[in-house]
Amino acid sequence: MSTAPGKQGVSTIERAARLSVAPMMDWTDRHCRVFHRHLSRETLLYTEMVTAPALVRGGAAHLLDFSPEEQPVALQLGGSEPGELAQAARMGEEAGYVEINLNVGCPSDRVQSGTFGAVLMTTPDLVASSVRAMRDAVAVPVTVKCRIGVDDQDPETVLPDFLSRIRDAGCERVAIHARKAWLQGLSPKENRDIPPLDYDLVLRMKERFPDLHVSVNGGIGSLDEAEWFLAQGLDGVMIGRAAYHQPWDILADADARIFGSERAAPEPDAVARQMMPYVARHVAEGGRAHQVTRHMLGLFAGRPGARLWRRALSEGASRPGVGAELIEEALAAMERVAAEA
Ligand SMILES: Cc1cc2nc3c(=O)[nH]c(=O)nc-3n(C[C@H](O)[C@H](O)[C@H](O)COP(=O)(O)O)c2cc1C
Repeated sequence: MSTAPGKQGVSTIERAARLSVAPMMDWTDRHCRVFHRHLSRETLLYTEMVTAPALVRGGAAHLLDFSPEEQPVALQLGGSEPGELAQAARMGEEAGYVEINLNVGCPSDRVQSGTFGAVLMTTPDLVASSVRAMRDAVAVPVTVKCRIGVDDQDPETVLPDFLSRIRDAGCERVAIHARKAWLQGLSPKENRDIPPLDYDLVLRMKERFPDLHVSVNGGIGSLDEAEWFLAQGLDGVMIGRAAYHQPWDILADADARIFGSERAAPEPDAVARQMMPYVARHVAEGGRAHQVTRHMLGLFAGRPGARLWRRALSEGASRPGVGAELIEEALAAMERVAAEA
């Protein structure tokens, strides 16, 4: 492990990257990450994608705000201009993020128009230059999240070439969404489900690049599956939608099962109550409770009362001036019905 300034945390972050919650626009915002952190102390959390132009040219440094309790948290950047990405990476490091990740996987139209995201799979040299520029600008690890290819590319040749270039440019870790992005004709949502998953290719990439920290992403829906991938030799597993929709199932046992910690899984109602001071603070600072509680709707997913919890939280959130008591009310509504049953 390097002892250079700023590098001391590397092994800690690598460890945290055994399990991560994927970057998800509009979902993994700072409030969501605080909630996820109450479920798992160890799992690596990612921001939503923040574009380098917004930070560097748009004066949107507030997009970097986060609470210290979210750590370890990685900043995902979108962009394709190395100098601008380097500047944005520096801003991210200064704000306290422990990793800077480049988005080479997002297929949305808006992102394509700015030459960000998955379309960069077609210009690996530009990605490598971007990684090198960011690497030169910051001491924290620079990582990449990519697809296995786009459109008619052959992943068997494109992906190893891509990985060797970004590794040589100083990328320390990669998260591979194990399906292509089809840039023509599919919506971003369809691009998360329709192109077939090829986990086998990701496993072979780990064999081919033993020194690169490789995480698999895409369609993973349980800790059992995550453990299976780790047992196959992968270094990490990144979970997106399942972690958002069933946060307790994915995250509450993660510290014990994935990280070997002795911390017992917190009960969902205890987690809900732990969020109350945060909600109260957010409301006191002028925010709305709903901005936090909307991320907590799945807390009881699969458990008795899950529907009541969701309903009480969503309906109550529209009440003017409602604060942290909304959580206590939703819990009480569930308990009342359980007592009547
Ligand atoms: C609502 C939503 C927003 C997303 N936003 C991003 C993003 O900002 N950056 C990114 O790299 N991927 C984004 N993704 C893709 C996820 O990070 C992940 O790669 C994808 O959902 C597949 O993983 P999963 O099957 O575990 O959900 C998004 C996915 C969803 C559902």
